[in-house]
Amino acid sequence: MPTFTFDRLALAVSVLTPKLIRLRYARNGKFAKRRAWAVTKDDSEFAPTQSDVNETSQEIIINTNAISIHIQRDTSKIHFTDSQNKIFCADDARPSVTSVTKSVAKSVATGEHFYGFGERTYSSLERSGCIYTHWATDTAVPHTPDVDRMYVAIPIYFSVRPNLAYAVYFNNTYRSQFDVGYTDPNQIRFSAHGGEIDYYVFYGPTPREVNEGIAQLLGTHPLPPRWALGYHQSRWGYKSDQEIRQLAKEFRKREIPCDVIHFDIDYMDGYRVFTWHPTRFKNPKKLIADLRRDGFRAVTIIDPGVKADKKYFVYQEGLKKNYFIKKRNGKVFHGYVWPDDSVFADFTRDEVRVWWGELQKHLTDKGVSGIWNDMNEPAVFSKPFSAGVGNTGTIDLDAKQSETTHAEAHNVFGYNMARASYEGLRKLLPDERAFTLTRSGFAGMQKFSAGWSGDNHAWWEHLETSLPQACNMGLSGVSFFGADIGGFNEDASPELFARWMQVGSLYPFARGHSHTDSIYQEPWRFGERVEKICRDYLRLRYRLLPYLYSLFYESSQHGTPIWRPMFYHYPNDERTYHLHDQVMIGDSILAAPIYKANCDRRVVYLPQGEWFDYWTDEKIAGATHITARAPLEVMPLYVRAGAVIPSGPDLNYADEKPLSPLTLDVYAGEGEFTLYEDDGHTFGYERGEYALTRLENKDSRLKIHKREGNHAPPSRKIIIRPHGMERKETVEVEDDGAPIEIHF
Ligand code: GLC
Repeated sequence: MPTFTFDRLALAVSVLTPKLIRLRYARNGKFAKRRAWAVTKDDSEFAPTQSDVNETSQEIIINTNAISIHIQRDTSKIHFTDSQNKIFCADDARPSVTSVTKSVAKSVATGEHFYGFGERTYSSLERSGCIYTHWATDTAVPHTPDVDRMYVAIPIYFSVRPNLAYAVYFNNTYRSQFDVGYTDPNQIRFSAHGGEIDYYVFYGPTPREVNEGIAQLLGTHPLPPRWALGYHQSRWGYKSDQEIRQLAKEFRKREIPCDVIHFDIDYMDGYRVFTWHPTRFKNPKKLIADLRRDGFRAVTIIDPGVKADKKYFVYQEGLKKNYFIKKRNGKVFHGYVWPDDSVFADFTRDEVRVWWGELQKHLTDKGVSGIWNDMNEPAVFSKPFSAGVGNTGTIDLDAKQSETTHAEAHNVFGYNMARASYEGLRKLLPDERAFTLTRSGFAGMQKFSAGWSGDNHAWWEHLETSLPQACNMGLSGVSFFGADIGGFNEDASPELFARWMQVGSLYPFARGHSHTDSIYQEPWRFGERVEKICRDYLRLRYRLLPYLYSLFYESSQHGTPIWRPMFYHYPNDERTYHLHDQVMIGDSILAAPIYKANCDRRVVYLPQGEWFDYWTDEKIAGATHITARAPLEVMPLYVRAGAVIPSGPDLNYADEKPLSPLTLDVYAGEGEFTLYEDDGHTFGYERGEYALTRLENKDSRLKIHKREGNHAPPSRKIIIRPHGMERKETVEVEDDGAPIEIHF
């Protein structure tokens, strides 16, 4: 790692891969010990990379085989160039590293656009012109565009201009800020209240390659169990065994697909985590076993606040083992949450995470399959919950956590709690893939958990916001993400619910949830017409599970987002840079949701190439803007020419039936898709028990390549449906894993 010193400011440049560079600054040449939080891979764990250093009288230049890093001798300013000599990520000023300020200012290049920044409100996709604070916050106020801090803090920005995409991750967990051209339109500035200037640059040049770099450093979502890709039904709160049984019965009776029921805080005994209410949930084991027989999984909520109750085993154990966060004066920190007086485990410590992970046994022993980690910013109320809802704050910033204080550990509180939960489940359910959901998190949280956007409202604006929010989370590394379908606070109207379910049925994480004070928002609560719409769209999701599951596999391997903004596939088409209201789901499907009341049409932009209307098969040549008709039953969907989309039978739950027959919708043009299959829930795939089938569509021919891997799908028919081809009729072939070629 070359280190350079300029006026006592030391700069270390690590070439981790030809496209992934780390830059660290230290005053007086001393680099602090890095804490292994978000970045779990040390520099030394990357395979050695070829780079050379050229020195001129003005510059030191480090060349990799993809880019060059230039350091100016007189100013110590840095810039990068690509192979075309295009400058990017250029310092606009000398980095400021004093005991008070730590900041880096980069100049904004002509045509440069900014995305990412984790979880944000606001319905724009592109994020220039604002200041973004990274400070995990229980955003109990409505998520209006002026809200800056959200539950998740991800100090990553993603830059795109024609032929050049890169991202920056600011490796600092203190409260930090990105000023994206707000103070000076020509500058993007990042700064922190503590810690050091330590950042990584991920070069593309394509957005896909940028995400690959982020994945190499910060990790990917492990492949989820297939059931977790089904629909989740939640509400604060289903209050009893009977209520949950009735809920499950309704889904099956009405044939609305659903895989997961979430148990909110009311299942606990007085909000004591890892307990069950003795009368309302008398026999959770039997309840969950019965649900399981009907194809439902149970996910239970867990909050970090442990009730300070001398007779409660979690409190007793944690106190005895010294696991709770202490104030500066050495006394255990107390704060109010649901159970009123509560204490908080210090998840930065390995032994505490192990303890917490093992406590989940009280839930998994009853048959629980996944954990929903909530309130983990952490939220601390200003008064006891039993006395009403107060304001929300957090733990004292000078409270001790490991060798540091909460000021540094705050942003990774949720991250470390999710880690404890995920790693605990992996031990408790050794050959079952764990499902965890977390409200708060930090860069890299995808290694441990899915996420959702917290307490939104049943507002059209929040349906709209969820589109760029999920796309920007995906660019920031977190693909397995969704918003509460229908809106959490307030009451959804039938029309809003129908429209939200249409788009929600295609969220990577699809869960309906509502507040205890709002109306019940299950799919059948809004009349028959809306119920049918919900059934139809959820069925569509379930039929598309082979497609979605393959996307999750790709994401687990390369960090590729499931939901992508249009520019992801058309990075040179500047018309896509601000397009916040249509998304690509994988390479082939474009969704253009309706997010306004009383609206039965909308404008859709179809970029260069040919497209098919998913519903009518009409062929449309891009680039063009069209007006899509969308009566309440229709969410406009388009398919890219050349697509091969695998789908399966109608299902009530993900593992109800094997993938038989397998249907392949093949659209005229050129393209390919790799279908991924496995048993859906164990780690067998890590031992080679998976099946990968490459589907190649070219010159009016579909080639189904020889299946790879040791997983044997059922013997089945493949139904091939041509779209836009000369041959119109459906073709049926037997699938035995051998290559097949069909001419259209
Ligand atoms: C928080 C969560 C919400 C949950 C509620 C009660 O507000 O964000 O989803 O229902 O707490 O547990």
